[in-house]
Amino acid sequence: MKFFIDSANIDQIKEAASYGLLDGVTTNPSLVAKEGRDFIELLNEIVQIVDGPISAEVVSTDYEGILKEARELAKIHKNIVVKIPLIKEGIKAVKTLSSEGIKTNVTLCFSPTQALLAAKAGATYISPFVGRLDDISHVGMDLIEQIVQIYRNYDFETQVLVASIRHPLHVVEAAMMGADVATIPFDVIEKLFKHPLTDIGLEKFLSDWKKLENK
Ligand code: E4P
Repeated sequence: MKFFIDSANIDQIKEAASYGLLDGVTTNPSLVAKEGRDFIELLNEIVQIVDGPISAEVVSTDYEGILKEARELAKIHKNIVVKIPLIKEGIKAVKTLSSEGIKTNVTLCFSPTQALLAAKAGATYISPFVGRLDDISHVGMDLIEQIVQIYRNYDFETQVLVASIRHPLHVVEAAMMGADVATIPFDVIEKLFKHPLTDIGLEKFLSDWKKLENK
């Protein structure tokens, strides 16, 4: 399973990359706006830190506008994946871009039918948002199960990228369901390491070792 970080913060991306387990990065307009920095400049920095797929989202909502932005973003670096919203114009653009060899990540997916459309259009990734579904009392992970099954049934090459992850259990369930990628916020990546018994056990080992040293 691949781990991406869902962040546009350079310090977080650098720290997560330093663990040696980071396969890629996803950003979105809200995450970029939080940084208050020029988008292109930010992307140019990110591609130097992580050698893997870096999702950069378009803000146009019409077919021509999406294509123009996507082609410009794709020119920045070979690892840029253009993130496109799951709307009619977006799906049309994904079909065109995939025939040009431009990688796409179809975002804001909330249903299996939407995921089917993205796969048929030739999307590289589909991003179902599990946390936002949980927020409205729908079990987000059910959607992952459905999409993984549908894609398997037809050997679609589109990769399932679990997005809007809120806690480690989302990551565990995504892995058990066989999702290809989890894009994880920095605070959740940190939580993946944690177990109180590890801390207690280590403290005991080290204090016992000290006793031996003092003999
Ligand atoms: C996906 O790529 C999005 O950037 C992200 O996962 C959305 O997460 P949120 O629902 O926590 O904003």
